[in-house]
Amino acid sequence: MTAIRQNTRCHLVIAACSISLLLVFLGLRTSNHTTPTWSLSHSQQPAPLVHDTEHDLARAGNGTLGFEKVLVLGLEERSDKRDVMILSSSLTGFEVEFVDAVKGEDVLDKARPAGFTMTEGVLGSWRAHMNAIRSVLERQLSSALIMEDDIDWDVRIQSQMPEFAKGVRTLSKSPLNEPQDSPYGDDWDILWPGHCGEVGPEDKDEPIYVITNDATVAPKEHQPWLKMLKDYPEGTRIVHRGITPICTFAYAVSRRGAQKILAALAIKTTYDLAFDNQLMFSCKDKALDLKCYSVEPMLFYHHRPAGSVNKDSDIQGSKQEDTDNIREKGITDNIVWSTRLNLEKLIAGSRDYVTQW
Ligand SMILES: *[C@@H]1O[C@H](CO)[C@@H](O)[C@H](O)[C@H]1NC(C)=O
Repeated sequence: MTAIRQNTRCHLVIAACSISLLLVFLGLRTSNHTTPTWSLSHSQQPAPLVHDTEHDLARAGNGTLGFEKVLVLGLEERSDKRDVMILSSSLTGFEVEFVDAVKGEDVLDKARPAGFTMTEGVLGSWRAHMNAIRSVLERQLSSALIMEDDIDWDVRIQSQMPEFAKGVRTLSKSPLNEPQDSPYGDDWDILWPGHCGEVGPEDKDEPIYVITNDATVAPKEHQPWLKMLKDYPEGTRIVHRGITPICTFAYAVSRRGAQKILAALAIKTTYDLAFDNQLMFSCKDKALDLKCYSVEPMLFYHHRPAGSVNKDSDIQGSKQEDTDNIREKGITDNIVWSTRLNLEKLIAGSRDYVTQW
């Protein structure tokens, strides 16, 4: 008995030392600016591993916003949009890759899922999103944030994403004190930080995650879509289960999410609708047990640049009245310090940002 116990203790000491060494090694590799929160215990027992939650969540503000890739969908010919997108993301700390948009006429009838009757721009848009989502599986990515090419965000996006991640982790019950592969936790399919409106959970018992005193939230009177937030104080942002988000300005898919979406929306027709509505209903109906999370106000929103209104959309065709309609000043609803309106400030390193409100 004694021998066995001593032996066990001996193993424990060796284990403690190896774990500590491993921690020192990992700590040196990953935290050159944060103080590690673990330490060697004097009693030579294995030191309890205190997980560094802040460090873990901070990955959501990394050079791909906590996803493995950021993919931007758009027509290759719209070099103007790609120029702005690359410039905006590089100035606010993340990198993007482009995925070519698809024209409806290039989708063969034979290539559509049975029963999918959409045509033209809507058909092309569906296919482009499917290509982006499929690439997550083809390239074996763990996740990707997929964005349209006319999207804007606050210059503080890298500090906003970790808060959003904390909300998603809390709601999806992915423990904050345990390491997860993704800073958003490992139990989500779709995250929807860029939409044009959402009703939020109607059931009062459904948990929500409330962020208060957030200086990046637009004043309520300037939030064009104020539903769920109207009874909350200024500066509130809410993370909740995605129920009816519309517009796919920016959404993320995990690997598991990509599998579910391809199964539901590419190889068969679950909803004969435009892609954003297909995705919305998939979330609402929890198709294939899809787990979606959304945030209000949204963190990404489409930008309407100064100049001819005709330049805005590549999905809707051009209308004569749009060519004649000139917008004096660029605008992005919901975004306080718009990156697109601050490109020159960011280049100059000025902190005197153009604020929309
Ligand atoms: C950001 O974090 C995610 C998740 O850990 C990771 O997959 C991705 O490679 C990281 N991006 C960069 C640029 O380090």
